[in-house]
Amino acid sequence: MEKRLPFTPEQARAWTREFPTPFYIYHEAGIRRCVEGVKEAFAWNPGFREYFAVKACPTPAILRLLQSLGCGADCASVSELELARRSGITGERIVFSSNETLPEEYQLALKLNAIINLDDLTQVDRLMEAAGAENFPVPEKICCRYNPGQFQMTSDIMGHLYDSKYGMPKNQLMEAMKKLKAWGVREFGIHAMLQSCSLEEIYYPKLAGELFALAVEIQQQLGIRLSFIDLSGGIGIPYRPEEKPVDISAIGEGVRQVYEEILTPAGLFPALCTEMGRYITGPYGFLMAKVVGHKHIYKEYVGIDASACDHMRPAMYGAYHHITVLGKEGQQTHPVDVVGALCENNDKFAVDRPLPETEIGDLVVIHDSGAHCRSMGYNYNGRTRCGEYLLREDGSLKMIRRAETLQDLFATFDVDPEFCVRGEEI
Ligand SMILES: Cc1ncc(COP(=O)(O)O)c(C=O)c1O
Repeated sequence: MEKRLPFTPEQARAWTREFPTPFYIYHEAGIRRCVEGVKEAFAWNPGFREYFAVKACPTPAILRLLQSLGCGADCASVSELELARRSGITGERIVFSSNETLPEEYQLALKLNAIINLDDLTQVDRLMEAAGAENFPVPEKICCRYNPGQFQMTSDIMGHLYDSKYGMPKNQLMEAMKKLKAWGVREFGIHAMLQSCSLEEIYYPKLAGELFALAVEIQQQLGIRLSFIDLSGGIGIPYRPEEKPVDISAIGEGVRQVYEEILTPAGLFPALCTEMGRYITGPYGFLMAKVVGHKHIYKEYVGIDASACDHMRPAMYGAYHHITVLGKEGQQTHPVDVVGALCENNDKFAVDRPLPETEIGDLVVIHDSGAHCRSMGYNYNGRTRCGEYLLREDGSLKMIRRAETLQDLFATFDVDPEFCVRGEEI
């Protein structure tokens, strides 16, 4: 079974004559359509906003596109906050969801007027100290991250969250809110992310049920009426061709029903938000690479010019990413491992994958690479990470991030003239 591409093999060949592989292509129209679908699915909730998880695709052109579509940004570090700011996303359009947070990280979030999502009770004092040290006023709005310990997804599968490092149990969350209220915070939200890459449409409605019930308890126990509830990310995408995409309008409708059942009778009408990353950009990113070698030992290997440095999910999680050999769709296949050049045996984009016979120079496309792929990349073996292009709605390809160079890597050695490695690249 093949997966569809938003470009033809001829287009791809023309692009690779102009721009050297490997590189990423992001499909602007696909991302735009996806965001519109999410907004429509939650249009029944007047304050709804999607805060795109910057970690999924931290590239300003993508963040700007999302900002133009009304999205905010979910950030987890100083550099993600800075990326959001430089992409025109500021103030309450930023949620800062970090853990083990340093004072300077809180201070930047406070400076930007971002909504801080506290991961732990101990962080309340840390935030107060960080704010006090720089004379920041008490933030208007704060969010607290919930970890219910257990989360029942279906009748027979119980998810245990005891070993999840995120969020706080109910009693600690209540305590945190009490302290924050006493400090002067006026508006509150709650947040939880209890699944990752879930293709079960029941996930958001179930999660909403947990959070909405907690909202009612918070009102009863603390007299706090939450102004927003953050369902975070976790909606999955079909990486395998036989998997079906979720129906986002059914998910929105499922959440609406739970809202009507739990919150409306309690007289609570909080705005909802989401922090999807994978669902928004995952299916609309493609890593384009070239076949550079073949090896026939105990197994058959096809070497490509991309590596786990460019795209880490398969190496990190053994994740499946569909691979198309361009122009050879439908041809007879045989099992191969598709590998990069790293000195790591997990540098494999596919293991025992049935693929057509390849030749040196054939183009391969690694699908569903728009989220948590390049952003997880690294520089092992001193390998530089590849660039990124946006496939515009008019069919043109625009560079949105250049490939890293050796100079980029060597720049970090420029710390002391004694050790500085100067010289031209060969
Ligand atoms: C706090 C938070 N929000 C949102 C996301 C985005 O998740 P996804 O891309 O799976 O939707 C993540 C992922 O790690 C996260 O940690």
